[in-house]
Amino acid sequence: MTSDLHRPRFHFTAPTNWINDPNGVCFHAGRYHLYYQYNPNAAKWGDIHWGHASSADLVHWRDEPIALAPTPGGADAGGCFSGSFALVAGQPTLYYTGYTAQRQVQCAATSDDLQHWTLQPARTITTPPPGVGVHDFRDPYVFRHDDRWYMVVGASLHHERGQCLLYRSDDGIAWDYRGPLFTSPNLAFGRMWECPNFFLLGDRWVLTVSIWPGLGAHWFVGRFENEVFVPESDGVLDLDAGAFAHLTMQGPDGRTLQWAWMNEQREQARIDAAGWAGAMTVPRELSLDARGRLNLCPVTELAALREASVEVVTTGALCGVVATFAGRHLDIEATFTIRSVRDSQKLGLTVLASPDGGEVTRIVFWPDARRLSVERARSSTDALVRRQDLHGMLVLDEGEALHLRVLLDGSVLEVYANDRLALATRVYPVSEASVLGSVFVEGEADVALQVWAMGCLHEGPRSKLAQPPLALLSPTPMPN
Ligand code: FRU
Repeated sequence: MTSDLHRPRFHFTAPTNWINDPNGVCFHAGRYHLYYQYNPNAAKWGDIHWGHASSADLVHWRDEPIALAPTPGGADAGGCFSGSFALVAGQPTLYYTGYTAQRQVQCAATSDDLQHWTLQPARTITTPPPGVGVHDFRDPYVFRHDDRWYMVVGASLHHERGQCLLYRSDDGIAWDYRGPLFTSPNLAFGRMWECPNFFLLGDRWVLTVSIWPGLGAHWFVGRFENEVFVPESDGVLDLDAGAFAHLTMQGPDGRTLQWAWMNEQREQARIDAAGWAGAMTVPRELSLDARGRLNLCPVTELAALREASVEVVTTGALCGVVATFAGRHLDIEATFTIRSVRDSQKLGLTVLASPDGGEVTRIVFWPDARRLSVERARSSTDALVRRQDLHGMLVLDEGEALHLRVLLDGSVLEVYANDRLALATRVYPVSEASVLGSVFVEGEADVALQVWAMGCLHEGPRSKLAQPPLALLSPTPMPN
């Protein structure tokens, strides 16, 4: 355990070393389970196992022993790639991709306690359908529909465009290939679709895919007819690939919950020094709004980690810094009611600023351009971290206020705007004094701000570093 400025407290990270995709998320026998792609031996991708953690409340997580390890000489000898959980005739079952240098196959493993898993080699789906290569066939996601089991698998058609394959089974053991569920309408959606999820949300079907190489993730909402998906609307899931490999489950209360993986955005030398790599987004709840758009927001349970809070409400014409605060692990809610839109007007928040302004990260909304940006050019003085700006479009309805939910957690920054634009990224300020935050407006706006210092989700903290006490620091003006 180190004094690590960048280690998150309320976003899940592995005890040490590398993680990527969330896997096999489920609720079983009174606990939530989060499995994840894990390299137990290094803080870089390779030798992929399934790590495991569990929680009674979605908020406090306990590390569990490694769940899946490559089987020497087996179909997963080179790695246990991503997959999902299903309770099949009362039997907890994991479906995942077995990787070897020769091919990718879909494996099943069963367990009675969710800790010890037994590979069931006879159940392996060994061959992809025609048109799909043996290296383009992975990430099974299993769900129940119409009293049958279905499985979607990520694929590439002719190694050229993303595709999602559909399988069906009566017993969850023997699978029939039914055909492509949905094929990418164009080449802009990447060469391969990874980690497809397909689930019913209200009266609509949602397909989410992660686009390879590196183009981020996308959602489609539509109908499931004759075992084919017919999209009606679509949009970006987490801008700029800041979060990837989304995995969704049905909660015991019917909510649709989702996690995604946030990769590091720094050079390997820095990752090696830190000894850990990758974090999960907080669990999110998904819904559809009246226009059929996918909405997402952090689960309400997160409030259990809120500690001290400060609050500022101002009304009327304003210009400048409304309030300043300090902290490195914060949950921030800011509502801006914009009274009139002017050219080049902007408003938003700064976080992780140093007193001299040498380091600062800005979350800025331009009402006239309808653009939300995370400006990272000055987020760190370290040349070995990524610092490009991120932008997304947010069109406010007539009279609609801007609501920003900002989860700042060491190097993790998640921004949710009006529950329909999510922007997850990483920032790595170098100075221990880079803890200042502010809210600023230009032009007429009413602002309601609440900031909470956040506690730790892990049973033992991952870093020794304490965060500074939360307090409003006004009137010190902040650089912006
Ligand atoms: C997505 C992914 C999956 C694969 C896993 C390997 O990040 O590439 O397609 O199963 O990671 O770790």
